[in-house]
Amino acid sequence: MRQITITPGGPLRGEVHVPSDKSISQRAVMLSALCRGTTVVRRFLAADDSLRAVTAFGHMGISLRLEETAGETVVTITGKGLNGLTPPGRPLYLGNSGTTMRLLSGILAAQSFPSVLTGDRSLSSRPMERITVPLRRMGASITGRRHAGRECSPLKINGRPLQAICYTLPVPSAQVKSCVLLAGLYARGRTCVREPVRTRDHTERMLAAFGAPVRVRGRTVSIQGGEELRSPRTLVIPGDISSAAFFLVAASVTPGSDLLLRGVGVNPTRQHVISVLRRMGARLVVRRRGRGQYEPSADIRVRSGSLRGVRLSPADTAQCIDELPILGVAAALARGTTRFCAAGELRVKETDRIASMVQNLSAMGADIRVRGDDLVIRGGRKLHGAVIDSYGDHRTAMSLAIAALAAEGATTITNAGCVAKSYPGFFDDLAALRSG
Ligand code: S3P
Repeated sequence: MRQITITPGGPLRGEVHVPSDKSISQRAVMLSALCRGTTVVRRFLAADDSLRAVTAFGHMGISLRLEETAGETVVTITGKGLNGLTPPGRPLYLGNSGTTMRLLSGILAAQSFPSVLTGDRSLSSRPMERITVPLRRMGASITGRRHAGRECSPLKINGRPLQAICYTLPVPSAQVKSCVLLAGLYARGRTCVREPVRTRDHTERMLAAFGAPVRVRGRTVSIQGGEELRSPRTLVIPGDISSAAFFLVAASVTPGSDLLLRGVGVNPTRQHVISVLRRMGARLVVRRRGRGQYEPSADIRVRSGSLRGVRLSPADTAQCIDELPILGVAAALARGTTRFCAAGELRVKETDRIASMVQNLSAMGADIRVRGDDLVIRGGRKLHGAVIDSYGDHRTAMSLAIAALAAEGATTITNAGCVAKSYPGFFDDLAALRSG
């Protein structure tokens, strides 16, 4: 899909099962490939990024069988143990998937064979020194390409034995934490990672589900190297709260809306967006569905209401980093001023999301400004339709689609097909809820 035009009006009503969690789906593939035995991954996210992980492990001798049954994707993965991967014999192309590249680097750094990781233009310009620095401290041989003062992919890795380290993350990043922990699975000794702000803990939870000797003490996570993983046999992936966030905001800002989002993952390290929206005045009711096997999930009801501006501290910002584009839309439609403090990490996501939010929301009539690394949005102005560009960034495309619902006149979003990265059916679900 090259472009889509969205016209405003009409409440959102009904129920939706948002797609499964992208972060958890990718980790499920990785640990299932590295354990001994067969794992059936149910409700797998069949989207571009998670399928990149499937293809990569297929090239390293792992059997991964995908089936569509009763409306869900099931992947059956036969792992061959920590040292069962075989040389890929070609560069592994990971498309747009930063998570696959950064996590896989930790695994490949410890293999007995060389490998090369490549990606699309966007992925090839994202900073990789955040993983190469700690991996080299563990003894890894990994080098990227110098580009605009950064170390970027392609990454050339010569797998070799690693040593445990204790590493304090310089930026809050679950990808870096996970990369070091996965390398730590192979390292001699106990690897620990200390984080300044608690980031999503899916890797720790999933390692524990695979019987790994992982320990969490406050903000330090550690893992003892050299222990084989045991398959939990079945994993069920919960819905992605980052995908749900688009509808939480859409229903909040569209008068007369009443939505039920089913089976949304509510891991405490991911649900900060719910607290922020509640602080903004959103009417959300979360009904927990129990603890789940390794990740909790819930049904969330959201009704329209009026939102007010809030201040997000640096820790708040870090804890809902993926939801900031849609929270930016909520802020533009809220009464009062919203400030996202220390939002600089947005500049190194799939695109520079600070630049694209400023450009696109300004084009729609919003008052949005950058103050150093803070983003300041004065809400309450009436938005108007415009032709806007996602720049190939899935979260930008979906956020702007929600802004378009509240604008006067039609909005055309170019480069809209990028939603396939995490939510291939987004525009269909949106249309169905609007006529629901
Ligand atoms: C992810 C972590 C986050 C997030 C990304 C997925 C993960 O990145 O933005 O979409 O699966 O670990 P950082 O950890 O680099 O902030």
